[in-house]
Amino acid sequence: MDNPIIITMQYGKNEKAAEGLVRELYEKWPYPSREIGSGEMLSKYHKWVSKIFTTEKNFWKEKKVFDVGCGTGELANSIALQDAKVLGIDFSGASIGRAKKLEKTVKSGAKFEEKNVFEFKSKKKFDVVIALGSLHHTIDAKRAFKICAENLKDGGIIIVGLYNKYSRLRLRMKRTFIGFFCGNNIGKRVEFGKKYFGGPENETWIADKYGQVHESYHSVGEVLEWFRENGIEFVNSKPKFKKPLIDEIKWLFKKENAFFVMVGKKNEKNSKSF
Ligand SMILES: C[S@@+](CC[C@H](N)C(=O)[O-])C[C@H]1O[C@@H](n2cnc3c(N)ncnc32)[C@H](O)[C@@H]1O
Repeated sequence: MDNPIIITMQYGKNEKAAEGLVRELYEKWPYPSREIGSGEMLSKYHKWVSKIFTTEKNFWKEKKVFDVGCGTGELANSIALQDAKVLGIDFSGASIGRAKKLEKTVKSGAKFEEKNVFEFKSKKKFDVVIALGSLHHTIDAKRAFKICAENLKDGGIIIVGLYNKYSRLRLRMKRTFIGFFCGNNIGKRVEFGKKYFGGPENETWIADKYGQVHESYHSVGEVLEWFRENGIEFVNSKPKFKKPLIDEIKWLFKKENAFFVMVGKKNEKNSKSF
């Protein structure tokens, strides 16, 4: 099996320390913290995700949706406004605070909880489980994926977005360079990244890119293996691929494709519904 590559050098084998640093980053710079004034502004988030796997206009209607590592809740609120019942969890209290504030503004009905995915327990299952950009910041992405899959109903859809092992290479090199000068001092890393690498976006974006000290990298083959192990059938991906390794190397040259999303459908029968 294809093993994940993890940036470990800044914190050695201390998982609690790594988790603490990830939380520290998102407490200070809750992500993505988009400026949203209305439900209409939010609609692009559910549309972006839906397009990957369905053409059904009312796909989200009455679905029970679980958003793992929901950050500041733009996607969760966007989906809830499509008449879905959404629960978003995140271990950053500041992110959950913003997600709840957004819910009050747009009145989506989404629920948010400050929770570590490894401590999440529910007797009921969801129609859709989403984990975009979050599992690779946990201390064990594969184990976190298993928790997502266990909370999915039979026939349910799982959507997972991860950083790619091959096409994330440029940023990984920058990160290594930053680590050399700043170690795991998050504030210093953000300042250094801003000064030397910058970027078109705001400080939240810069903090996520350069302040981050724990990130694992994954491949299409590896996620397909996770799918198989958890009884999930591959449905579609963004970007699409024909030959995993070769296409992933091609993504490296298309700068925007360091993040890939894979969608699957759980194919077991007879689990309890939400
Ligand atoms: C890059 S942000 C992604 C936010 C959002 N899903 C999005 O796509 O914009 C990663 C999020 O994962 C959360 N996270 C990381 N590890 C977590 C864990 N063990 N349990 C819950 N949330 C976690 C972080 O707090 C952060 O808000």
